[in-house]
Amino acid sequence: MKLAIIEGDGIGKEVIPAAVKVLDALRMDVEKIPVELGYGKWERTGSAITDQDIDILKSCDCILFGAVTTPPDPDYKSVLLTIRKELDMYANIRPIKPLPCVNGILGRNDFNFVIVRENTEGLYSGIEEIGEDASYTKRVVTRKGSQRIAEYACKLAKSRQNKLTIVHKSNVMKSDKLFLDVCRSTAAAHEVEYGDELVDSMAYKLMVSPEKYDVIVTTNLFGDILSDMSGALVGGLGLLPSANIGAGHAFFEPVHGSAPDIAGEDLANPIAAILSLKMLLEWHGNMTEAALIEEALESTLNRGIKTPDLGGSFTTEEVAESIVDHIRIK
Ligand code: NAI
Ligand code: MG
Repeated sequence: MKLAIIEGDGIGKEVIPAAVKVLDALRMDVEKIPVELGYGKWERTGSAITDQDIDILKSCDCILFGAVTTPPDPDYKSVLLTIRKELDMYANIRPIKPLPCVNGILGRNDFNFVIVRENTEGLYSGIEEIGEDASYTKRVVTRKGSQRIAEYACKLAKSRQNKLTIVHKSNVMKSDKLFLDVCRSTAAAHEVEYGDELVDSMAYKLMVSPEKYDVIVTTNLFGDILSDMSGALVGGLGLLPSANIGAGHAFFEPVHGSAPDIAGEDLANPIAAILSLKMLLEWHGNMTEAALIEEALESTLNRGIKTPDLGGSFTTEEVAESIVDHIRIK
């Protein structure tokens, strides 16, 4: 496997090396291609991502990514939006399931759902008009974009409990009517049991009865918000992995950002990055290695080896070392 490795900025420089240690312990045949991207590169070179970087990413089988800092500077183009568009990675997959010995805000472990977020359009279209007194962002919903994300979500639902919840706000934003209609007809065609929810009431329902959901499909911004919120159900942003999937490319990253408040202190939780590696291996068909990571992670958590965000006193490196040790003795 040819794997591009992007640490990025902030804690990306800590959690990705931790995940790479875990990958190395698995002794797989992987060609690792480091790629520097992000705000640090922009400060150093004036460019956060180049055409050559995109070509390298396109030439790899998959990509493991940490996080990048995005400054509020209107001239700074988001690296992630650029990659998602250039590689046409239309599906953002965020599994939300509890981990052993970790308490989420509800203190329960009876839920297991996946947020499937449309990743290329919606309010993150990048089509903006910025003025002194008024600024506009164009919300884009297309039949093609809705169709392919609906297809992805239905296939995923079929491999799980066959239940799909379509999240939208079509009562207020008429652009969502197209999204809703396409998702409904796709679910019906695939014989997937489906329902729909308005995004605001969905936010409430996910917090009080997360066990009712299986696969949730939604537009870009709503999926972004609902998935960070769902991090609280699991126990923190440091635990959530994600995948960005396109026709020919796959990109795996923790849901969290570069966390400048804790960067450089060896405090960041590496679990989201390590679970992103696990998703990458599953996607690539390396099920045995993925299962080994899960087992090693469970053993680490069961022994109370946790970073401070989970109430522990261990460092990023110590958590990674514990997972590596478990893999080595297997
Ligand atoms: P953030 O996710 O970086 O941090 C939010 C809070 O969660 C902070 O208190 C942070 O310390 C904590 N946190 C996050 N990950 C953690 C981990 N692994 N272990 C322990 N604690 C963790 O979001 P924030 O602060 O809104 O954004 C910081 C920067 O990251 C911004 O420049 C933003 O644009 C960027 N960002 C990048 C993303 C990406 O590259 N995918 C995603 C989200 C934000
Ligand atoms: Mg986000």
